[in-house]
Amino acid sequence: MALTGLFLILFLVVHLAGNLQLLAGDGGRSFNEYSHFMSHSLLIQTVSKLNFTFIILHVLYSVWLTRQARAARPQGYEGKSALQTTSWSSRNMGILGTLILLFLVVHLKGFWYELKFGAVPTISYPDSPESLPNAYKVVCMAYSQAWYAGFYVISMIFLGFHLHHGFQSAFHTVGLSNYRYKPLIRTVGNAFAVLVPLLFALIPAVMYLQSIGY
Ligand code: HEM
Repeated sequence: MALTGLFLILFLVVHLAGNLQLLAGDGGRSFNEYSHFMSHSLLIQTVSKLNFTFIILHVLYSVWLTRQARAARPQGYEGKSALQTTSWSSRNMGILGTLILLFLVVHLKGFWYELKFGAVPTISYPDSPESLPNAYKVVCMAYSQAWYAGFYVISMIFLGFHLHHGFQSAFHTVGLSNYRYKPLIRTVGNAFAVLVPLLFALIPAVMYLQSIGY
């Protein structure tokens, strides 16, 4: 669970860096070139398969672990209640994960599937010999719909809470969260859980505002 989670955390950083090019203000050229490169690199295509495998494993493990934990302790602990000893995000990882899975289904249908199997318009640049699939336009069209952009922004709040517990928990499970590193991991985890979803949310928010003329 922790290893698949750590891989997905790494994926999020790379994915965010790539997607922030949507806001480069160059009419989408850098994003289109990046997207074209990603879809033609053998290494990236292999990582992509690994990525899908890890998402599925992460979900399956979470279901299995939840069942095991319930079977092992049908009744709660004596003494302080979970409300006093655990964070809200740690108690709601299941529901947060389910909401993120729902987000992923909508997200992959809208972008990944569309770019791979849909009728994507192409664009050519005067100083470049080949025309490129206009992935930027596909994203622009999607985020020009208020409900779609809003769905992303709200989903990023769920992602933030999921990461708030998941980041620290993953480091704890692999044994790195000892008394020496724990404060550092907590600080970095908290910053990660705020910054990454915030920057992801910024993209649909800005692109929606641009689409209505701001
Ligand atoms: C503003 C936010 C986001 C934008 C604009 C965005 C954009 C994209 C695009 C364009 C693709 C298709 C890439 C391609 O196949 O060429 C993609 C794939 C994907 N996205 Fe996102 N994404 C965003 C947020 C997220 C978030 C928050 C997650 C995870 C929680 C995520 C998970 C994925 C996954 C798993 C894929 C498939 C990648 C692969 O082929 O391995 N995305 N995204």
